[in-house]
Amino acid sequence: MKDATEVFDNWAIIGKDEGMEKGHAAAVTEMLEFIAQKRTDSFTAIDIGCGNGWVVRKLSDFPNCTHAIGIDGAEAMIAKAKNIDAEGDYRLVVLPEYQLEEKVDVIHSMEFIYYLHDPAQMLNIIHNHWLNSGGLVVFGIDFYAEHKRSHEWPGLLDVHMTLHSEEEWLALWKNAGFIDITSWRANPSADFPGTLVITGRKS
Ligand SMILES: C[S@@+](CC[C@H](N)C(=O)[O-])C[C@H]1O[C@@H](n2cnc3c(N)ncnc32)[C@H](O)[C@@H]1O
Repeated sequence: MKDATEVFDNWAIIGKDEGMEKGHAAAVTEMLEFIAQKRTDSFTAIDIGCGNGWVVRKLSDFPNCTHAIGIDGAEAMIAKAKNIDAEGDYRLVVLPEYQLEEKVDVIHSMEFIYYLHDPAQMLNIIHNHWLNSGGLVVFGIDFYAEHKRSHEWPGLLDVHMTLHSEEEWLALWKNAGFIDITSWRANPSADFPGTLVITGRKS
């Protein structure tokens, strides 16, 4: 199987990142609204698996967001992000092997975590080393057990994806130490059960 970052590097080169941005926008809008409700004080943020950086720029637009970082392992995605926003903080990083020097208050991630072979390890790292006390995580997941049509994606893309049910994902959040865990299905339609959004807080 190919590395996810290799596949998405190619997607950025051929412009498929823009379709992805459009496809994810409605769910991400709900996720950003959740952040806006929960964080009325000033905060710093990271978008993990940021692609071309479109959510980093949305986070930077929050009047109370003092700094937003984008992290992605696909070279062409990060190059595109820097090309659009030369002042932005976009980092070419393949996860989970990365030591973040500064802790942040909010971690957003759309359609990234299941590309990892061990999502629990990443959630532990985020909880223990990346988040400030009281920090918030908001993750969107379209590949999950109850979304039956998504099960063909690993074969179609020839990329590893870790499949869990909503209940199993929630258990991973709990086991990593998050509290105040919530979930909902964002932007559902007739043939799509919606993006599984999971949120949590570090005590
Ligand atoms: C489905 S795309 C989503 C991009 C963006 N969040 C969006 O909604 O447009 C997944 C992104 O995660 C990145 N990614 C996947 N596995 C990664 C890893 N191990 N380390 C860093 N980035 C990774 C890919 O390069 C890709 O840009």
